[in-house]
Amino acid sequence: MPLRVAEFYSGIGGMHYALKAASIDSEVVRAFDINPVANDVYKHNFPEIRIMQRSIESLPMSLFEGLKCELWTMSPPCQPYTRQGLQKGSEDARAKSFLFIIELLERVQRKPTYLLVENVAGFEKSDTRAILLRQLTRLGYRFEEYLLNPLQLCYPNSRTRYYLLAKRCAEPRECAEDEQFEPSFLHDVPGADLIQPAADVDGRVDFDKAVWNHDKVRKVKEFLEPLDEQTLELHRISGRTLEKYAWVYDVVTKDSSRTCCFTKGYKNYAEGTGSILQLEGVVGKDPMTVQNTRYFTAREIANLMGFPQEFAFPDSSTIKQRYRLLGNSLSVSVVAVLMDYLLHRM
Ligand SMILES: C[S@@+](CC[C@H](N)C(=O)[O-])C[C@H]1O[C@@H](n2cnc3c(N)ncnc32)[C@H](O)[C@@H]1O
Repeated sequence: MPLRVAEFYSGIGGMHYALKAASIDSEVVRAFDINPVANDVYKHNFPEIRIMQRSIESLPMSLFEGLKCELWTMSPPCQPYTRQGLQKGSEDARAKSFLFIIELLERVQRKPTYLLVENVAGFEKSDTRAILLRQLTRLGYRFEEYLLNPLQLCYPNSRTRYYLLAKRCAEPRECAEDEQFEPSFLHDVPGADLIQPAADVDGRVDFDKAVWNHDKVRKVKEFLEPLDEQTLELHRISGRTLEKYAWVYDVVTKDSSRTCCFTKGYKNYAEGTGSILQLEGVVGKDPMTVQNTRYFTAREIANLMGFPQEFAFPDSSTIKQRYRLLGNSLSVSVVAVLMDYLLHRM
């Protein structure tokens, strides 16, 4: 019998692709997302899946009871926890739906056996994490927390994320309202043999440093697509932009073994939103020109995030929308490794 899965905050289906990449015999019974543009992409790739386009916290209890899913996957909005944001945690209105699910877990009769949560690095310091862990402890879930980066799997893309795996196989235990959980984050998944990050003197983990020039990490050129003249034109960076912002861009070449995290603001802002590609010459030595510099395409970013070739955007979606959706999505390759472990070995 295929594993029944509920995909909360489904976006463009990163969790669904991870299930496939991990070859898990599964059926996504229902996907949930309020964003119609994301849902169009999901439908384009998985036309048979039922998507619930309503705010999760507005849905009736009967719907959750009816799911009868063994696995719930969740990548709730990250804005309450991002370093650039106000870090209001559970006080942020955008945390409401996830707090609703945490509370719902107690009330729902058919509880999922497995949970997989993905969020930004920073979530581990939030009060939402403490609320989640208390609830899991009370309900008899054993859990493990990870901070992982696709660089560790030899993908030349840095995207450190928090992951929680939970399995309902422990004794339920009472938990005080203010009980805190010591941070203890794993950087390797049993059986997966990931490249290990370096730790600074103060114990801070640095994934990029660990894989710097690591000969196992793949080169950017493996993830590029051939571009026709028209597509190339659409991805060029204007002379004016280069003049103004060349110094703030993260610039890589085809032979680099690293790109930085692509966010939803890619192409809108120069700093901290993702790398750009210098096609010829040496970075920092040869000048960046309109001819030798370009943005990565959405397809190339999808490749770097581990989406399979069959994944596609509908023609109706704009380049800007594609960047936004990918920026909100996840590393399929990392999640696939975690799913395999959660369902087979944890
Ligand atoms: C971090 S993204 C998850 C992306 C997804 N994992 C993917 O692979 O594309 C969070 C998603 O939650 C959706 N969302 C935010 N608040 C929601 C709510 N209250 N109910 C349902 N979906 C919500 C957003 O539209 C967004 O697509």
